[in-house]
Amino acid sequence: MGLPITFDEAHKAFTIQTRNSTYQFMVDTYGTLLHLYYGRKTAGCMDFLLTCQDRGFSGNIYDAGENRAYSYDALPMEFPVFGNGDLRAPALSIQNHDGSLACDLRYAGYEIREGKYALPGLPAVYVDQEQEAAMQEAAQEDQQAATLEVTLKDQASGALCRLLYGVLPELDIITRSVRIENTGSASFTLKKLLPCSIDFLPGAYDVLSFYGRHGYERKLQCTSVRHGAFSIGSRRGTSSHQYNPLLILAEKETNEDYGSCWAAEFVWSGEFSALCEKDQFDSIRFQMGLAGEDFSYPLQPGESLYAPEVILSFSRAGLSGLSRNLHETVRRHVCRGYWRDRVRPVLLNSWEAFYFDFSGKDMIALGEQAKSVGVDLLVMDDGWFGERSDDFRGLGDWNVNEEKLGGTLSAMVEEINRMGLMFGIWVEPEMVNENSRLYREHPDWALKIQGRDPVRARNQLVLDFSRKEVRDHIFAQITTMLDSANIEYVKWDYNRSIVDVPSRDGKGRGAMLYDYMLGVYEFLERLVQRYPKLLIEGCSGGGGRFDAGMLYYTPQIWCSDNTDAVDRLVIQHGTSFGYPLSSMGAHVSVVPNEQNGRVTPLDMRFAVAATGGFGYELDRGKVSEEEKAVIRQQIEEFKQMAAFVVEGDYYRLTDPGEEEHAVSCITAKDGSEALLTAITLDNHCNNPVFYAKARGLTSGAMYENEEDGKQYPADALMEIGFPVPQSNQLVYRTYRWHLIRR
Ligand code: GLA
Repeated sequence: MGLPITFDEAHKAFTIQTRNSTYQFMVDTYGTLLHLYYGRKTAGCMDFLLTCQDRGFSGNIYDAGENRAYSYDALPMEFPVFGNGDLRAPALSIQNHDGSLACDLRYAGYEIREGKYALPGLPAVYVDQEQEAAMQEAAQEDQQAATLEVTLKDQASGALCRLLYGVLPELDIITRSVRIENTGSASFTLKKLLPCSIDFLPGAYDVLSFYGRHGYERKLQCTSVRHGAFSIGSRRGTSSHQYNPLLILAEKETNEDYGSCWAAEFVWSGEFSALCEKDQFDSIRFQMGLAGEDFSYPLQPGESLYAPEVILSFSRAGLSGLSRNLHETVRRHVCRGYWRDRVRPVLLNSWEAFYFDFSGKDMIALGEQAKSVGVDLLVMDDGWFGERSDDFRGLGDWNVNEEKLGGTLSAMVEEINRMGLMFGIWVEPEMVNENSRLYREHPDWALKIQGRDPVRARNQLVLDFSRKEVRDHIFAQITTMLDSANIEYVKWDYNRSIVDVPSRDGKGRGAMLYDYMLGVYEFLERLVQRYPKLLIEGCSGGGGRFDAGMLYYTPQIWCSDNTDAVDRLVIQHGTSFGYPLSSMGAHVSVVPNEQNGRVTPLDMRFAVAATGGFGYELDRGKVSEEEKAVIRQQIEEFKQMAAFVVEGDYYRLTDPGEEEHAVSCITAKDGSEALLTAITLDNHCNNPVFYAKARGLTSGAMYENEEDGKQYPADALMEIGFPVPQSNQLVYRTYRWHLIRR
């Protein structure tokens, strides 16, 4: 038994094996990499799948001589470039010094090594020493993490390209990144750089994407793969509310439980592009990487650049199976630090209670209320700093407004700590208001194009985080504040898209934004190193930067500014395709809901919010004593179940955006307990009976339902389920079955 990656000299084929999948590509006669296979686990060389015939208007590389049947335009490519005859969407385009667009990458060597590669300055899937040791103890060598590095070179430009493949075999995960180095004597510009491109042979497929807007993120869309390009991406500076950097390809008929499907998830928080294109011969190209049309990065001789990595996974156990691979990977191999495996504190956030209008006394009163119902952590949201009395001013001045708080931050935090509560605070480090001291002193630190007025959004501008002096200044301000009091949680917000990007050192928008993102990551890395126990929750007007890149630094992200339970079911459903429950910040808020006016019962709001990043946003005056008593019980219930909810396997049973019931099941990995939830979203007269199925239970076992104390057979619960009680009253009834194996 060797590593999970092998090189077969005879066929010049590289094979990556995971528990349930095989990935294979080969070096052809001319030194170009051809993709052979990605799918259900198999053995042998799949070069028999390649077909060649003379195809009109599909050219042949010069080396093929008179062989008109050998065209890269018609063969499956492992890393397609523009310039060797493949006229489909390239993964790499190089503009040479003379302005020509051309590149021809040929094989130069490979290395297979133990352990998963890391990417300097970039977030990436990791396997830490403890995980490595556990793998070594429990598993065969071929189940351990490994890296494949394949080197390719374009002789004419000197572009040296290292394709990186990481493998976590037990999780059915393969990662891909690429490093490009200019080893030539003239500069060239990377016009396009996608670390992931996979060519699938003809078949019937759907593509699943996750679209949305501020307040309604990551709604699932399933589209048939047809001729033409299905593409998503962001040109907003961040990964965006509009399209999440997650794309799934699924064989037609795939459902939550059955069928072959493939996911690509970008570990990157900036602009991106992803594509699924059926070509002239019905093959499908599936790609993800740095933003296509806007990306442009000049490399001088000796310079190099890494593309952020894409996580790939394959499952034959349908979409739920695919998501569980991603959940485990994001939860354990992307999220890091003290809070990674811990149940997070139940928090109460001040935003919907006060917005900008509060004093230190109000905060203390809110803390008392929070403590009385069992909350662990009080978060002071926006409005505590500089002259921030509304969202027209103050960003950039991270000095505590002691007048507003009626004293120092540390005095207030001490009082809150004395109550037995942890304390957290809101920041938005990347932003500045023109009405701030920082902007008056350093107007050139904001992203602006000379000679043009910038576009304002929420009346704020973006600081140029690609510049070290800007980051250092903000870092000093924020750490002074963090050091001044016992702050155990930070909500890191980001409330606009980037429009105006100046050009510097020959770098245009794409390169500047790449450097910007690296600057943000560098800042966050410094922060997590300095405060290892600090819990950071990401946020961007809710879920505008909800991606695996941010989750490397912030193990949870505020899922959406929309806290309405019905909308949240849809948002969290979409989010769950790529991200674990533990990563989703979700709070119970008041009714009528402040975003859409909907009234839902408190038990439903709780059932929807009781994920990993659980908390409340409650208005001081609007909670009755009876409700407080219910909230106290809810928090107790959450704490009892939190450990297995956060760690458990998550199953989607219905699509709450399309169906009348929202059903999900969270089951402990060992099957010992499960939480099955059904919520009625619509109601009609004289309805047929609806059954809520469980998943992941131990076949043959009996399970006791905590509420009625009765025992039920696991297989019947998984086959048919519990009848959901009929109600001719209101919709939004919530039914929860806490099942314990007997
Ligand atoms: C964003 C966040 C909110 C809140 C406000 C504060 O919109 O998503 O939760 O923190 O900013 O300005």
